Amino acid sequence: MQLSPLSQVGQRLFAWQMSKMTDADERTIELKHHPSCANLAQLRQTLVGQLQGRVVEIGAGAGANFRYYPQDIEWIGVEPNPFMQQYLEQEAEEQGLQVERIETCGAESIAVADHSVDAVVSTHVLCSVSDPDRVFEEIQRILKPQGQFVFLEHVAADANTWTHRLQNGLNPVWKRVFDGCHLNRTTGEAIAQAGFTDIQLQEFELNVPIVSPHVAGVAHTPAS
Ligand SMILES: C[S@@+](CC[C@H](N)C(=O)[O-])C[C@H]1O[C@@H](n2cnc3c(N)ncnc32)[C@H](O)[C@@H]1O
Repeated sequence: MQLSPLSQVGQRLFAWQMSKMTDADERTIELKHHPSCANLAQLRQTLVGQLQGRVVEIGAGAGANFRYYPQDIEWIGVEPNPFMQQYLEQEAEEQGLQVERIETCGAESIAVADHSVDAVVSTHVLCSVSDPDRVFEEIQRILKPQGQFVFLEHVAADANTWTHRLQNGLNPVWKRVFDGCHLNRTTGEAIAQAGFTDIQLQEFELNVPIVSPHVAGVAHTPAS
């Protein structure tokens, strides 16, 4: 799809912003109510540090997870913003990660063969995709039996809280400013209903305003 000049500027700026965030020290972003991780860096390490084989990362951004992956995985990226590519390649080289390829497309239609990958990773992406249920179908299609879907996502706050009201009020403007990101998706519930098995899901908060409520964990595809 051809982007308008204004959209191109927006996507370039967003890619640059993500690259600056990738450089940030996530040990300073504390977690509240998480049973085993004290900060965001520890959590990313726990989620992706044990993965093996062929790994597809959707919405890879500027490569915030690269420093935590084992170096011997085969990594395939699915990232619709073409301006992320240079940052992904640069970060992969710095972290010694082998990039098999980067598909410049949305996760609603992933150019990867059926039942061919060991894990799919999504961190802070399901808030932005246009059709989360379609993305879950694609993830299940490409994962091998008993494959792992690893996720870390910000979600809607509990109803009747001030954060919930703020999220609903800000959402229309937020989506426009932050590249389609929805503040108020109930992604934990959506994952629970998407047909995965053996779901280990942790609810917790990040020590940041507005997007503090989070879910993270791993879900599996059924054995064949
Ligand atoms: C907030 S960034 C997160 C980047 C990275 N995963 C991280 O943890 O820092 C959201 C990413 O999702 C990407 N994205 C947006 N819509 C998408 C879609 N439909 N399919 C896959 N990725 C998408 C954006 O281009 C962006 O790179």
